[in-house]
Amino acid sequence: MTDSQKTSRRSQAWFGARGRSGMVYRSWMRNQGFGHEVFDGRPVVGIATSASELAPCNAHLTRVAEAVKRGVWQAGGLPLQFPTMATGETLMRPTAMLYRNLMAMEVEELIRANPLDGVVLLSGCDKTTPAMLMGAASVDLPAVMVTGGPMLNGKYRGQDVGSGTHVWKFEEDLKTGRMTEEECFFAEGCMARSNGHCMTMGTASTMACMAEALGMQLPGSAAWPAVDSRRMETAQAAGQRIVRMVEEELRPSQILTREAFENAIRVNAAIGGSTNAVIHLTAIAGRVGVELSLKDFDDLVRAVPTLVNLMPSGKYLMEDFCYAGGLPAVMAELLGGEMLHGEQITVTGRTIAENTGNAERVDSDVITGLDVPFQPAGTGIAVLRGNLCPDGAVIKQSAASPHLLTHRGPARVFDSPEAYHEVADDPELDIDENTVIVIRNAGPKGYPGMPEVANVPLPAKLLKAGVKDLVRVCDGRMSGTGYGTVVLHVAPEAAVGGPLALVHDGDPVVLDVPNRSLRLDVDDAELTRRRQAWKAPAERHTSGYAWLYTQHVEQADQGADFGFLRGSRGHEVPRDSH
Ligand code: FES
Ligand code: MG
Repeated sequence: MTDSQKTSRRSQAWFGARGRSGMVYRSWMRNQGFGHEVFDGRPVVGIATSASELAPCNAHLTRVAEAVKRGVWQAGGLPLQFPTMATGETLMRPTAMLYRNLMAMEVEELIRANPLDGVVLLSGCDKTTPAMLMGAASVDLPAVMVTGGPMLNGKYRGQDVGSGTHVWKFEEDLKTGRMTEEECFFAEGCMARSNGHCMTMGTASTMACMAEALGMQLPGSAAWPAVDSRRMETAQAAGQRIVRMVEEELRPSQILTREAFENAIRVNAAIGGSTNAVIHLTAIAGRVGVELSLKDFDDLVRAVPTLVNLMPSGKYLMEDFCYAGGLPAVMAELLGGEMLHGEQITVTGRTIAENTGNAERVDSDVITGLDVPFQPAGTGIAVLRGNLCPDGAVIKQSAASPHLLTHRGPARVFDSPEAYHEVADDPELDIDENTVIVIRNAGPKGYPGMPEVANVPLPAKLLKAGVKDLVRVCDGRMSGTGYGTVVLHVAPEAAVGGPLALVHDGDPVVLDVPNRSLRLDVDDAELTRRRQAWKAPAERHTSGYAWLYTQHVEQADQGADFGFLRGSRGHEVPRDSH
């Protein structure tokens, strides 16, 4: 480290200041027991932790932060841990997604406002990973992510149970009398038997893999279970690495290139990842000025098979994925098939190919090869267009029923998920196996926050009759752990006057996934007439954060970020506070 490097460091605008200001900046920090020498110009590293007992998937992150700290000290930096908000998926209402942008904004502002030269981002639950990446990208100081790791495999009566995925299954079993209420209480504990985030390939595991595929977390880091000691080892390594990254001035803008996003999109197809990655990757890309369109998510993955046999599309869980070689093994396979940009730089300072080129697949049932893939190319996320979704919609084919991927059926429309739930178990309900259930007003603006409500459970009478799936169409999202023939993210959403708002009961809906189409078989003149009669729903919120959200949130195909948060605002040192 040269002396000029030390004095030009961002943190020196605070800790290197002379006179009264410098005294204020240093003196109060010393109440934590730091000696004067820590202000000598060494890299000051923020450790942003989203630990919270209200976000159980992130509750252990304070321990992970301790390991990061060790690494920062070892490498000669000064680690300073700070809390961020945590958007826990399970408890927050109306949906954690409403708060992703708020968290991203908080992360961005906290990094910029403080004497930091680099930052380690500790996340876990679904939205916390994209929120942190969005915030850090908009500051563009050196940043490395450490996700908190998945829970151990759930175990119930000798069977692996997957968080989220088995909630839907148990619910069906309860409805059909295959399970009692007591058995369900017991199973709840079996499903969540250690710290960590969902251990299915739901959104949290997907986004952890996305962070790794983008090059923003250390190779292998996504898969270590939260309670595996190697989770702490990788955290410590990240702490060491961020100090070097500050010296090398290796920034997110150098890592998060168009090619990096293309890699991530392909990796998402190979891991059978969550549909939520479409929205989150688009939003992160928006922060670094990379234009991603929904079309990219379809075009780029057509040749990519699903290699990873994990729930909800397959049978294994993240612990198995870890032991089978984790994401580096998947990336090595894709590199071998020339499906990744291997020259992309990552937080290691090395390229994707250098990081993972030699990674080994240890269990080819969990991580299959390109030669005999778990599912053939073209069965991942598909992007649909048509008069029902002019700006696009997505469907996860691997989680759908093949016989429903081309389907024509009458719509049964519900203006809210609640309206459906009220009648779902009515034995007289006018829904049969051909019906297309339409759930609307669950979009970014309409709900607000675009909750994971699209995969509504099937009506009890159909479940009892042995029906396993129905086509559902919604402007909301689906949990990454969910499954079914569910068309999601319909854009524009109903609440802004998208065609979903114009559907009537009985209208024929035509789903044709092979041809990427979702149409309403109603003639244009009739749709025009209905559009003229359409009235926007009353604003649910007239003040507060929810109001701000509905005023500024963009549609799903744009990533549902706030328009005013797009782009990077840099890391210039703000004006003095004293
Ligand atoms: Fe937090 Fe699934 S609920 S990761
Ligand atoms: Mg989720």
